Amino acid sequence: MTIKTLIAQLPKAELHLHIEGSLEPELMMALAKKHNVALPYQTLEEVKAAYQFDSLQSFLDLYYLGANVLQDEDDFFQLMWAYLCHCREDNVVHTEIMFDPQTHTDRGIGFDVFMPGFLRAIEKARAEWGQSCLLIMSFLRHLSEQSAFETLASAEPWLAHIDAVGLDSSELGNPPEKFARVFAKAGELGLLRVAHAGEEGPPEYVWEALDVLNVDRIDHGVRSIEDDALMARLAEEQMALTVCPLSNIKLCVFDDMTQHNILALLDKGLLVTVNADDPSYFGGYLNQNFLAMAEHLPLTEAQLRRLVANSFTASFLPDETKQKWIDAVYAVAV
Ligand code: HPA
Ligand code: ZN
Repeated sequence: MTIKTLIAQLPKAELHLHIEGSLEPELMMALAKKHNVALPYQTLEEVKAAYQFDSLQSFLDLYYLGANVLQDEDDFFQLMWAYLCHCREDNVVHTEIMFDPQTHTDRGIGFDVFMPGFLRAIEKARAEWGQSCLLIMSFLRHLSEQSAFETLASAEPWLAHIDAVGLDSSELGNPPEKFARVFAKAGELGLLRVAHAGEEGPPEYVWEALDVLNVDRIDHGVRSIEDDALMARLAEEQMALTVCPLSNIKLCVFDDMTQHNILALLDKGLLVTVNADDPSYFGGYLNQNFLAMAEHLPLTEAQLRRLVANSFTASFLPDETKQKWIDAVYAVAV
């Protein structure tokens, strides 16, 4: 079996996926038409041509623009349904999906619109093929602490369906510490915690996410490699990093895939995982990320299995379910 076939056949978990970043140009154009929303694109080709980024912010500008087409319950159903169908295709048996409430509430679209749409798609995928899903509610860090607190309050009726909180959007200038009190409150409510840190931001932001936000995982975290003491801490605690290779190339965190440090992080004993981040903007879903690594990095079969097993270890699944999937990862014959 080639490494490509093995990538397809391994059961995988995805831990870093923004549902708004899975909005494909086709659905974006269809919903723009349905709701009469003006977009600065006339054709699918123009949308795709616009996806050239030189920084996180240049991407976020188009990501928030695209999300404007999401307006009614069925739009959110379709968005979630399309992503879950990709999970089935890529053999992503478990996924922990981030959503950004403020991207919608700031436009007057409330939890009572997007949550029923998301949950209807998740229930359908669970019923049809046993898809396993958790939800992570992410706060937009460029907005205020007050806005994050309001979001947490609005989420209270839905907390039975939300497993964790996260922190995303513009990293530089918005350190984790800004959300210390919101994350403490989320912890009191029984929510797990993750945060984007060390994508564009410095290693200090990873330290803060660990020490001030008490996170259970770090999203991205690739800049941790600049700080030996931090690397030792991450290895010692087996703190997971949800690394997103194609995203990092598209947003110029690394010049090209041959320069990516994911295998170095793995070799230094960190609990590294592979994820798609915003697949419709960055050139592919989860298997495409593994395929790009296999093409441009000296990825061995053992490293591939380790990365995939790590996706279950680092997940928020119960221990016995994790072990069942890890055994399945090592049972797939070459
Ligand atoms: N980083 C920060 N915010 C985001 C990202 C990301 O990679 N994707 C969607 N929002
Ligand atoms: Zn992300």
